[in-house]
Amino acid sequence: MNRAERPPATLTELLSRHDCDQALLAALRERRLPELHFYQSGPSVRAWTELCSSSAYRGYARSFALVDAHAQTIASALPDRPIEVVSLGAGDGAKDLRLLRALASTGRRPRYTAIDASYPLLAGACAAAIESGYPARGIRADLLRDAHCREAGRMLDRQRARLCLLLGGNIGAWDPGDTLRLLRRLTEDQDYLLIDAHQFSERDTLPQYDNPTNRRFALAPLRALGLDDSAGDVHFRLGTSATVPGLALVEKCFEFVETSTVSVGGARFAFRRGDSIRMSSSGKFQGHAFALFLESAGFRIRHQFGGQAGGQVLLLAQRRGAGG
Ligand SMILES: C[S@@+](CC[C@H](N)C(=O)[O-])C[C@H]1O[C@@H](n2cnc3c(N)ncnc32)[C@H](O)[C@@H]1O
Repeated sequence: MNRAERPPATLTELLSRHDCDQALLAALRERRLPELHFYQSGPSVRAWTELCSSSAYRGYARSFALVDAHAQTIASALPDRPIEVVSLGAGDGAKDLRLLRALASTGRRPRYTAIDASYPLLAGACAAAIESGYPARGIRADLLRDAHCREAGRMLDRQRARLCLLLGGNIGAWDPGDTLRLLRRLTEDQDYLLIDAHQFSERDTLPQYDNPTNRRFALAPLRALGLDDSAGDVHFRLGTSATVPGLALVEKCFEFVETSTVSVGGARFAFRRGDSIRMSSSGKFQGHAFALFLESAGFRIRHQFGGQAGGQVLLLAQRRGAGG
């Protein structure tokens, strides 16, 4: 498709830069750093990209490989009519593009809606889809805010079949209860959901996080706030979810070893030696816990791909109707 024929991407901002700074301020007051703040600045996005291609962290490559290997099977399992692909926490949209291609090759005329809190990643995901000839739009939103999910849900096309994507282990970075709430807002009865998660392994899970490349990714948002490397370090520990059976958590925490100051939008915060900032955990499911969790949330599993300990599991699920 030549440039003149390409449809323009529209980008709707439900989350503004100012909102994002305000959310960061509120979180830092509670000594927390939620997941969405890890993808906001150029250096943070570069640290994420570097992590995705690093050999120490294999989560991204495994997730990409599973989607790529099964895209055609997934496309063929979906209703034979025009479809809207809604990517939740789309990132760079590279996996989504594989699915768009597979859908187009089966004649399903996909249209792409990427939803993400990160402006640079969202803009890149939409540009890549358009470049490949698919109608695309972006919605910058905080998916953990009910109002944003409701508003984004209103913008989706009800005439098309819907495939929601929640890829890259996003479910592990968000609280499972919050994730289910956003899925209920953004899917309707009979909609499809393609979702992946990391499988726990006693031997492999922690080393994938506790390494220099991942440490750089974890530190990037704090460096953007002006913290230097001598201020402290990130520590990783294994924990378990209090609410979801079989969900192990890699907990991340920055611990200060000296008094330091960070600034956000003109406000300054002082941290003392011994203070800490809790970062989002990464969730890892054991055995069949992930499928059971999704089924208990009202989804019927249609296909399962992968799933060995320490690897990735990819599920194609369908939301059950009131009767089923
Ligand atoms: C681990 S990456 C996964 C990206 C992509 N789905 C993939 O599989 O490569 C997480 C993505 O979720 C986005 N994200 C994190 N928290 C979010 C939130 N509360 N609302 C919307 N997007 C969020 C980040 O900006 C990032 O693009």
